[in-house]
Amino acid sequence: MAAKKPKPLVAGNWKMNGGKASARELKSLDTKLKKAGRLPCEVLICPPATLIEGFVAKTRGTKIAIGAQDCHSRENGAHTGDIAAEMLKDVGAKYVIVGHSERRADHDEDSKLVRTKAEAAHRAGLTAIVCVGETEAERDQGSTLKVISAQLKGSLGDTFTAKNTVIAYEPVWAIGTGRTPTPQDVAKVHAAIRKRLITRFGDEGASFRILYGGSVKPSNAVELMGVENVNGALVGGASLKAEDFFGIISAYL
Ligand code: 13P
Repeated sequence: MAAKKPKPLVAGNWKMNGGKASARELKSLDTKLKKAGRLPCEVLICPPATLIEGFVAKTRGTKIAIGAQDCHSRENGAHTGDIAAEMLKDVGAKYVIVGHSERRADHDEDSKLVRTKAEAAHRAGLTAIVCVGETEAERDQGSTLKVISAQLKGSLGDTFTAKNTVIAYEPVWAIGTGRTPTPQDVAKVHAAIRKRLITRFGDEGASFRILYGGSVKPSNAVELMGVENVNGALVGGASLKAEDFFGIISAYL
């Protein structure tokens, strides 16, 4: 029996960009979403931690959810500069991205740590967006599927469900470069991820959302979002401006 298709998620990762003045983009996005009417996808913005609480207040009663870009694995304690998942929940975040390739690279995060962060998100009642993706060198060596398979194995735990976890496939070489894999390549990787999820979680595996990320823009969103097993997007640069981000969301309208 064919499993019910998961509701797509279009998520914006603002990375280390934006200040209080960026609330105008939020307002503009809200206006566009209101005009658009019924929305067949979820919309999420993950701003820098400094903006989460303010953005939560500003998006109350709108179709925009607010999330975070990282969390610590512990609930509290002597971890200077870190933020616990419980703290994100406390200020109204709904999601948290874990294991983004920039954190894997800049902060030496490995899949085991990513799993503990995702488990922390679950403990706090947040949905974890677990990122995987190969580097250009790994792609050139033909090891894309092997790398992703290992990242999934290490980053996912047995208690993970389609409700508390979203997977994001972000080829590292496509992030911020304007380059994207072909729809055929995306289809191949997403099908492999789906297969792994079903092997690991049974029927539940069919309901996990698998986002594509890496140079998604309004001009390629329809094509990329139309690929089988692509259940939304994780968008960097093009999520900073309401017009571009709405252009991507429009792939579902
Ligand atoms: P870009 O959309 O800027 O390529 O970034 C993708 C990304 O890393 C989202 O997490």
